[in-house]
Parts: sequence; C-alpha cells; structure tokens
Amino acid sequence: MFNKIRLWKNQNNSSTLREKIEEIKKLPIPEHVAIIMDGNGRWAKKRALPRVAGHHEGMKVVRKITRLSNKLGIKTLTLYAFSTENWKRPKNEVEYIMKLPEEFLGTFLPELIEENVQVKMMGYKDKLPVHTLHAIEKAIEETKNNNGLVLNFALNYGSRAEIIDAVKQVVSDCRSGIMNENDLNEEVFSSYLMTANMMDPDLLIRTSGEIRLSNFMLWQLAYTEFWFTEVLWPDFSEEHLLEAIKTFQNRQRRFGGV
Ligand code: FPP
Repeated sequence: MFNKIRLWKNQNNSSTLREKIEEIKKLPIPEHVAIIMDGNGRWAKKRALPRVAGHHEGMKVVRKITRLSNKLGIKTLTLYAFSTENWKRPKNEVEYIMKLPEEFLGTFLPELIEENVQVKMMGYKDKLPVHTLHAIEKAIEETKNNNGLVLNFALNYGSRAEIIDAVKQVVSDCRSGIMNENDLNEEVFSSYLMTANMMDPDLLIRTSGEIRLSNFMLWQLAYTEFWFTEVLWPDFSEEHLLEAIKTFQNRQRRFGGV
C-alpha cells in the first residue's frame, strides 16, 4: 500500500517536472549555460561529513543537470570543477577532486555517449594528474562525433591566466607576421581563448550564496545574465535549473542598446 502511494507520488512529481520542462521549452532556451558549482564543503559540514563527501554528492548533481540540459536543448554546459587557485586546498581534497572525473566518466560515459553528449575540457592540462587527464581525454575522444549537448568541464581553469596567454600568443603572432595588429578585434581575440569556437555563455549560475566570479570566464561573461542562489551545489536540483532559465527568459537582454 505504502509502496503504491510512493510510486504514485513519484509519478506525480515527475509529471510535474515534465510539464515544467515543456512550459520552459516554449520560450528561447539559453544556448550556453555556465555554472560555478559552489557549496560542496558547507553541504558536508552541515552533515558533519568530510568535505570530500560534498564533492562526491556534487558529482551526482553534475549527472542530473547534464541530462536535463541535454533534454532542454541547451547547446553547451560549462561547469567550473576546479580553478587554478584550487591547488591551495588540502592535498587530500585536491587528490579527491582529481579522482572525480575518472569516477564520473567511468560510470556515466556510456550514458553520455548514448545521449549524444560531447565532452570537452578547458583549462591547463599540463598540471593535471595523468589519471585525470587520461579519463578526460578518453571521454573527449569517444564523444567527439556526438552533436548533442557539449559538456565542457573547466578543470584547472583560470580566466586571468587564459587572457594573459592569449595576449602573449597575439603578440607572438604579430611579431612573426601571422597576424597584423590592425586586424585584432574582439572576435579575433576570442579565438585565442580556450573557448575558441564556443559562443559566450547566455546564463551564469552560481550556487551557495557567493556573489562573485572567482576568476571564471571574465572575458566571455561580458553580456551574460547572472543568476545567484543560496542553494548549495549538492542540493541543486532540476527544479532550480528550470527556475534559473525561467528568470533568464523574463530578462531583457540589450547588449548595451536600449
Ligand atoms: C566548490 O565548493 C567546489 C569545487 C571546487 C569542486 C567542484 C566539483 C564538483 C561539483 C564535482 C565535479 C565533478 C566532475 C565530474 C568533475 P567548495 O568546496 O568551495 O564549497 P564551500 O565553499 O562550501 O567550501
């Protein structure tokens, strides 16, 4: 009897979610959503668990949000998983986070392939542990022909370093004659960034109540709509993503015009 009620409740909840998805899809969906997944540590602390338990729970949310993003027809989902500053964290925490791509992709890569998701990564690969890089590169290779959602992991990513490297490359290309400095414009400069060939995010979400960018996509977020929530990343649900998109749909984007 109780099982029947539970089943009915679940069906009822999921049909509500389905209805919400259909409703949201009637208006334009942001093509590129970027998320600063914050609050894993606090989520764990509230439960007297080690911080890494929060990261593990956060990894499960990555799966849920990826599936929904794909279903909604979002073209690119960029997730800030590890910044160039995060190496300052305790060694065990860094090592744990660096194991998550393997665990995530080890479990869900077949599902991502099945769902036509293309995995990408932006960030400095050279400092990543070999096992982390190997898992990511395997996923990139095995999903390279997929043309559904692009799941872009920002891993060992830092926007200021990215911009400085782009400037260095521009200078070098001008010196060697590959480029004329008069041809440099915003579009050309964008092509020197790690997001070359990727459109700028339409919507940025940051969880956990922090209202800052933390060195994330500083150039690319110039005209992005921001949505901040107090919700900690491990508690972030499909409903929250839909709420963020709904808010986005009610905003008027003017790109500097009137
Ligand atoms: C910030 O929360 C979170 C991170 C630095 C790590 C985010 C990583 C994941 C959500 C898992 C990624 C999964 C894959 C598959 C790569 P915090 O630790 O700063 O939280 P706090 O501010 O509450 O301490």
